[in-house]
Amino acid sequence: MTHRSPTPSPPHPSFPRQAAVEEQLMFLLGYAVMAPSGHNTQPWQFSVHDASVWLYVDPARTLPALDPGGRERIMSCGAALFHFRIAMRHVGITPEVEWFPDRDEEDAAVHMQDVEKGRKALARISMGSPMEPTLADETLFSAIQRRRTHREAFEDATVPTSDLNQLEDAAASEGANLEVLSDADQRSRLLDLAIRANEDMLADADVRRELAEWTASASDDAGVPGSTRGWSRWQTLSAGWLQALPGLGPDPWHRETATIRNAPVLAVLTTTDDNVAAWLRAGQALDHVLLRATSYGLGASFLNQPVKVSRLRQDVRSLCGDDAWPQIVLRMGVATTQAPRSGRRPIPIRKD
Ligand SMILES: Cc1cc2nc3c(=O)[nH]c(=O)nc-3n(C[C@H](O)[C@H](O)[C@H](O)COP(=O)(O)O)c2cc1C
Repeated sequence: MTHRSPTPSPPHPSFPRQAAVEEQLMFLLGYAVMAPSGHNTQPWQFSVHDASVWLYVDPARTLPALDPGGRERIMSCGAALFHFRIAMRHVGITPEVEWFPDRDEEDAAVHMQDVEKGRKALARISMGSPMEPTLADETLFSAIQRRRTHREAFEDATVPTSDLNQLEDAAASEGANLEVLSDADQRSRLLDLAIRANEDMLADADVRRELAEWTASASDDAGVPGSTRGWSRWQTLSAGWLQALPGLGPDPWHRETATIRNAPVLAVLTTTDDNVAAWLRAGQALDHVLLRATSYGLGASFLNQPVKVSRLRQDVRSLCGDDAWPQIVLRMGVATTQAPRSGRRPIPIRKD
């Protein structure tokens, strides 16, 4: 397989180097919002003051049926944080990141509830000392523009072990673990869990309604357009009407099952804890893995259903080791086509 050679680029030509810090930070946020997010909800908000970006959860962008605990919402914010860090390094500035910066509560649990509800910040990112971006930084930065969630089949080609090792290193560098399942029995157990979980989830009318809302009714700036699933305009429209009715919707899953079974790589991203800090870490690790995979010409798609259904998450745990908390399941391989780009809303700035 051919690796795209990293493109060392000169410091970003349009970065407004002479402008005020706030303007520079807004420029860099343009890259943060290109991050992946659950159902393209883009559940982040920012505040730019005191020469820093403050990252918050957007409480208006929730998925009560698909992500009731808000775990994937925090992970999505973590992915935006990683994009932002890479963009800042690309323009030659060290990102200084403080997690949960405005902690003024006596009670840590109360503080975390405020963070999850978007009342307190997840992170503050300031501009540190000048630095020379490394080749790895530049490779990741150039992957930001090309990365997409790839939901189609992958080429029937083996992914080199050296690439997989690099992806594992990417996750480890963010404090998470990427477990690549190579054993046929493990793979088959995970796929069975994914199919069972999907059936469980689709039996829930609220889940179907939420899927329809974020898929078939995707707008230009949010949601998952049917085209990214290979659907025609008609299939997308009918998915909207029918997904809300039990058993009648065009079942994209059936089409996807064969694709999933043939996935060259199945991997589970895990953390040792399962709390807001772990999810923020997992989101950054996920994004690091996805950008590095993109730089190797690999595509990735999500297979999270068994992690969403708590009773099945326990089974995924036992596949990965009982002291690991599965956060995301990925299907990866050599991408044959470039998936369509999904939309993004304008950078959401808080009014406070
Ligand atoms: C935490 C997280 C969970 C996700 N879960 C799923 C999923 O279960 N199924 C899926 O098809 N895509 C999933 N995605 C991918 C998003 O749908 C995708 O990032 C979004 O639509 C934007 O498209 P893009 O990744 O091509 O930019 C997930 C992304 C994140 C960050």
